[in-house]
Parts: sequence; C-alpha cells; structure tokens
Amino acid sequence: MKTIGVLTSGGDAPGMNAAIRSVVCTGCANGMKVLGIRHGYNGLMAGDMLEMDPGKVTGIVHRGGTILYSARSPEFRTEEGMANAIEVAKANGIEGIVVIGGDGSFRGARDLSMRGLPCVGVPGTIDNDITCSDYTIGYDTCLNTIKEMADRLNDTSESHNRISVIEVMGAGAGYLALNGGIAAGATAILVPESEWDLQRDVVKPILNTLESKMEKKHFIVVVAEEVLRRMKKEGFAENVTELSSIIAERTGVESRATILGHVQRGGSPTVRDRVIATQMGYRAVHLLMDGIGNRVVCMKKEAIVDYDIYEALKMVKPFDFDLLKIAREISV
Ligand code: F6P
Repeated sequence: MKTIGVLTSGGDAPGMNAAIRSVVCTGCANGMKVLGIRHGYNGLMAGDMLEMDPGKVTGIVHRGGTILYSARSPEFRTEEGMANAIEVAKANGIEGIVVIGGDGSFRGARDLSMRGLPCVGVPGTIDNDITCSDYTIGYDTCLNTIKEMADRLNDTSESHNRISVIEVMGAGAGYLALNGGIAAGATAILVPESEWDLQRDVVKPILNTLESKMEKKHFIVVVAEEVLRRMKKEGFAENVTELSSIIAERTGVESRATILGHVQRGGSPTVRDRVIATQMGYRAVHLLMDGIGNRVVCMKKEAIVDYDIYEALKMVKPFDFDLLKIAREISV
C-alpha cells in the first residue's frame, strides 16, 4: 500500500494521540502517504482529511483527546453511507485505514473490509470492554483519574464521617468500577457482571465496620453506570443521588453522591497508555504494509497480537470474578 488513512471513532480516550503519532510516523518512515481523517467515519464520508507527516504529530504524545476529533456516526452504518465512504476513500487514493476506537468502530472497519477497503482496528476506549483484547488504550489513564478523584472524595468523606457514592463510566462493563474501586479502597463495589443486593453488598459491609472496634466512619462506594441504568429500569433508584439517599437511610450514615462523568475521558495519558498505543499503531501499519486488512490489533497476556475482525467481535472476555471476591472479602 502506498496511501493509508487513520481515524479515531467513538468516545475519545487518552492515548489516542500516541496511537495516531505512531501510525503516522511508522507509515512515513516506510515511504507511505498517511491521511488523517477527521471526525471519525463522518469525516471519511465527507472527505474531511489532511496529509499527515511527523511534523504534524510531534508534541502530541502527552495530550489527551484526539487531534483528529472523534464521532459516533449512525449515517455511516447505512448502505448509502458505507458506499459513500468507499467512494471517497478511493477518490483520495486510500488503500487501507487504521481505525482507532471501540467495538462499534470495529464493526464499521469490518464492513469496509468486506467491501474491499482493508481496515485494521486498534482498541481505544476507557471502558476496556473490547472482548478480543485484554487491554484498551485509555483504560489505565482513566483508572488513575478515578483513583485521584476518589482519593479527594475520601478526604472530605473522612472529615465529615460520610459515605461517598461514586458513579463511574464503563458503558455496559464493570472493569473501571472494579479496578478503580479497589484502587480507591472502596468498601463496596457494584458491577453489572455480578448480581447486586444492596443490603448484602453495601449496607451490611458498612454496618459491620461501624459495629467493629474500628474508628472508621467514612466509606467509599463505587457503582458502575450500567448498574445504575438497571436500577432505574427496575424502579429501584432513579439515579446515583437517590441510591445515595437509600444507603444513608439504611446505614444511618450521611451520604453524598458524585458522578465522575466525562472527567474520566480526559487527561494526559499514562506511560502504559502511551507505550501500548505506540506498539499497537506500529503493528497496525505493518499489517496494512503487508497487504493484510480486516484485522484487530489486541493485547493478550502483555503481548501485541492481531485477530481477524469477525473472530474478534465474537470473542468473549472473562470478567475477573476473583478480583471482585477479593474486594468483597477485604472490605472495611
Ligand atoms: O465508551 C466510552 C464512554 O465514555 C462510556 O464509558 C460512556 O458510557 C459513554 O462513552 C458516554 O458517551 P458520551 O460521551 O457520548 O456521553
């Protein structure tokens, strides 16, 4: 291939810029022309792209977000949108695309590959919910943000003898809640992968500590956004504020709710995110250079590997129930 494109799609994640930098520099170092497609698949359909070179990606490795912008594009999923995207790619001489994003973005990459435009996916999302990969770019930075915010909430909770109920992102998955909760020293963690019982999983552990000889009278409770979605659907609690009130009522401890929200998506990427993004971007370009498309670059047991996109999308990722068990057993 002589010309490739690179785009970022779906929710942005810290480390996406490091991946873009790697793709551009690897492509250019190997004599390729690299086009940066802006605003994800929307930009592909609209022909919103610019030629990239190492000069355009210098000084971005430490920046959160994505210099190529990102979008979720329902229009691209239609037959018409897809045909349009292929046509624009051809008109610009694009022979392959590196798609940095989540599994929705990979479905788009698979569909483009099926239509003769080879694409390679690179997993970029804070949620770590891409089933084929142990790791997704942005996850580590996000966990560190959750840890930092939870530490701050812990300070004020301790000063006031309060409970702090923290809602974290994660889409349909509980990886952020589980690992962020453990890092925060949470007394209780609710994830969608496990059935929850408020009395058993939250109220009882708090009461146990209050009834013990410990002086501790403040608590962190971390709840995955998907659990709150389900609580709302089941009519249990409308939102995290209502959940916090229910917990306060049942424990007799004053409680405050915090939604960490989009703070979790920003920030300068950690070393881990920068290094893995660089490795994944490099691997993606080398696949396209060898004429190989329809692949997803993944991390398996700390090694960078790649899989067929069809197979990758069918894979199931085991949840770390052992870690959840540890969190519950050591809860204070
Ligand atoms: O997939 C990343 C993510 O931040 C999820 O954790 C969250 O559910 C969603 O995106 C939020 O999307 P938006 O930025 O469109 O509100």
